[in-house]
Amino acid sequence: MAKILFKNKHHRVLLFQNLVEGDEGIQCNQFLIQHGNQCALLDPGGLLSYAGLAEQLTQLGMFDKLRYVVASHQDPDVIGSLDKWLLNTPCQVAVSKLWARFFPHITSRALQKQLSKRLIALPDAGQVLPLAGAELVILPAHYLHSVGNFSLYDPESRILFSGDIGASVVPSDLFEPVTDFQAHVKYMDGFHRRYMVSNKALKLWVNMVRDLDPELLVPQHGRYFSGKESISQFLDWLEGLRCGVDLINQHMYRAPDFRRD
Ligand SMILES: [Fe+2]
Ligand SMILES: [Fe+2]
Repeated sequence: MAKILFKNKHHRVLLFQNLVEGDEGIQCNQFLIQHGNQCALLDPGGLLSYAGLAEQLTQLGMFDKLRYVVASHQDPDVIGSLDKWLLNTPCQVAVSKLWARFFPHITSRALQKQLSKRLIALPDAGQVLPLAGAELVILPAHYLHSVGNFSLYDPESRILFSGDIGASVVPSDLFEPVTDFQAHVKYMDGFHRRYMVSNKALKLWVNMVRDLDPELLVPQHGRYFSGKESISQFLDWLEGLRCGVDLINQHMYRAPDFRRD
């Protein structure tokens, strides 16, 4: 079932949390942003979530009104279903220019021409995508964790979709917004220390997000952050986190024992 994150007369934002079941794969959130008679999907996921998401869009009457599929980065849980969306809907697909040139490798031969016509290769600086009079703001989030990585800000709802930044792996009965930040850190900590490249990149991203002052901050996995206090707690934690190359040393770069005769 979809959860409504925002709704007014012309605009609605839906969150899908349960399309990947049980132990099938890591839990992923998918997002639909609708403005007027057009919509965009953000990080629709792979083949595990395609059928459920397509069914939901059909029920909402939006399947053939899909203008964009936006991929925050290249991972299978983000855009593994690329072929299906290209084949079955009129969407354009937006992804970092660093990953756009690899997408022919995950697209069938029959769809290569379609892909080249419908692919939006996002520049490093990000871009604004028009959606039926609204704007979707694609924000740089490089190295967090992918080298060509974006978050998305929806000014109408004031929701910031942070991709893997803020991702948590939580029991499925804990999908409500984070209420006890300190208790939630354990679900994010290990992932961020390994998957985020450096504290420098985190700090730069945090500065950009503080300036936008979103009302919701919603990652691609797990629970989201609602309201100024909760978002501030998260941004403060992120700003102070040492991760990725901050933590590496020679001990991690040693060949395993092997016979050298
Ligand atoms: Fe990822
Ligand atoms: Fe992810």
